[in-house]
Amino acid sequence: MTRRFDFLVIGGGMAGISFALKAAKHGSVALLCKTTLSESNTSYAQGGIASVISESDSFEKHIEDTLISGDGHCNLAAVEKVIKNAPSQIEELCNWGVEFDRDEQGKFDLHREGGHSEHRILHHKDRSGQEIQESLIRQVKSNSQIQVYEHYFAIEILTQHHLGQIVTQHTPNIECYGAYVLSQRTNNIHTFLSKVTMLATGGIGSVYLTTTNPEISTGDGIAMVHRARGAIKDMEFVQFHPTALYHPGEQPTFLITEAIRGYGAVLRTQSGKEFMHKYDERGSLAPRDIVARAIDNEMKMRGHDFVYLDVRHKNAEETKEHFPTIYKKCLEIGIDITTDLIPVVPTQHYLCGGIAVDLNGRSSISRLYAAGECSCTGLHGANRLASNSLTEAIVYADAAVKEAATLLSTLTFNESIPEWNDEGTSLTEEMVLITQSFREVEQIMSTYVGIVRSNLRLKRAMTRLEILYRETELLFEKSVVSREICELRNVISVAYLIIKHALLRKESRGLHYTVDYPERMKNDIN
Ligand code: FAD
Ligand code: SIN
Repeated sequence: MTRRFDFLVIGGGMAGISFALKAAKHGSVALLCKTTLSESNTSYAQGGIASVISESDSFEKHIEDTLISGDGHCNLAAVEKVIKNAPSQIEELCNWGVEFDRDEQGKFDLHREGGHSEHRILHHKDRSGQEIQESLIRQVKSNSQIQVYEHYFAIEILTQHHLGQIVTQHTPNIECYGAYVLSQRTNNIHTFLSKVTMLATGGIGSVYLTTTNPEISTGDGIAMVHRARGAIKDMEFVQFHPTALYHPGEQPTFLITEAIRGYGAVLRTQSGKEFMHKYDERGSLAPRDIVARAIDNEMKMRGHDFVYLDVRHKNAEETKEHFPTIYKKCLEIGIDITTDLIPVVPTQHYLCGGIAVDLNGRSSISRLYAAGECSCTGLHGANRLASNSLTEAIVYADAAVKEAATLLSTLTFNESIPEWNDEGTSLTEEMVLITQSFREVEQIMSTYVGIVRSNLRLKRAMTRLEILYRETELLFEKSVVSREICELRNVISVAYLIIKHALLRKESRGLHYTVDYPERMKNDIN
């Protein structure tokens, strides 16, 4: 079955929904997500969204903090764009019904997080993402221009390749005509033709054994663009959040927001010693890459599985008031954060790289835009500053709509795209082939491509991955398409890109630390 929409939006988090809401003013919109609209990275965000709000703050300070965190690898134009456009996008969120916490005078109650020189994080308690996601969903559900497709899994974006042409990364003007999409309820594959396609497929956490991301985070958009020969950037910069709750076996790993360190919590070894000042004068509030590496080092030196976060010295009632979700979650596993230490461990959290886009969110493929975590705008450079990602998602979604809307009248649907062809395929009888390979990818990445890397480990990871790649491509060719096999292919592609980019970077910078090249090069290879 073929469907036609002016805008095809793949992904229903902050980037996808905010794009859809604005695109709906210009044409028909299909909004796809692979499970339900409420399941996204956006829903899990705790800390909040960064923007210059207070009088003591300034764009210059936020820009400087972002550049310092990005370790000389940010795109200044992208940084300026996001930071200067943030306040108006925050206003937009408020107009959509998002309620950020305010003080008694009605002013925004701003938090501070690692790497920020000012209080500038707007939040809703410690469940900011849930508040944003629910407000956006309410808006989408009341917009008749937007057709929502839940449990629809995008398999491939459509390009000239699907018209029988050979497409390479050197093909001039690769174009996107929409996507093949699997309805998971009926197992039918639909052709969605579009004039403009927006990829907002979120993160890649499922490539690792432990992650704060929900399990939908398999990097599908990045893998689809890679297969379509589009440009992908900065994949070596994988962010590990310093403080995920140490609670083995739980997936996703529960996050202990950085805002709690902004509030005064201190990192300690298992014997109770504060250690961050040994590594950085900013102590527990140093940028994430530094804190995560310091914890990793302390754990390795002492043979410990976790360190502690200590918030016991703060007023108990205030702690419960600011961090009710964390308080409740820890209590469920027997930890009262007002009187007990919290065991924490660094865990995969975010990807700074992704689909390369310009200042309008346009990818290297015509008619294809990307926003949010799957994209690489250059804002984060080599290390994302906390709470800058939600800001980036909404600012770039806005810029992309503005540009795409001007192109709409010049574009038509490509009616030559054939229906999906599944001749010669049969149902996969042995699911274990898929689940075991998935586990192997996670193990390879967590063991060899973590916080501290080396050439030897990266090359070993690549060799192992190549075997999985060959086996999976063979299996894919003869299998009826399922979400599981597509996700396996996607995590393999994403893992491959992370390792490849890590091997190419012969220096340590931001989140990429390698024992073979511990120094940062003078000139960045951008
Ligand atoms: P997501 O919100 O992840 O949405 C992705 C969407 O794509 C989903 O709807 C999914 O179903 C859909 N999708 C994916 N693949 C397919 C496919 N093949 N077919 C169809 N649909 C597909 N950032 C901050 O700025 N501040 C914070 O406080 C903060 N806290 C965080 C806390 C946690 C625990 C986590 C995990 C992340 C946090 N982040 C935070 C990061 C931030 O939440 C994400 O980067 C951001 O929400 C990503 O938004 P997005 O719209 O790009 O993607
Ligand atoms: C957090 O609350 O610590 C997460 C913030 C972020 O990832 O930006």
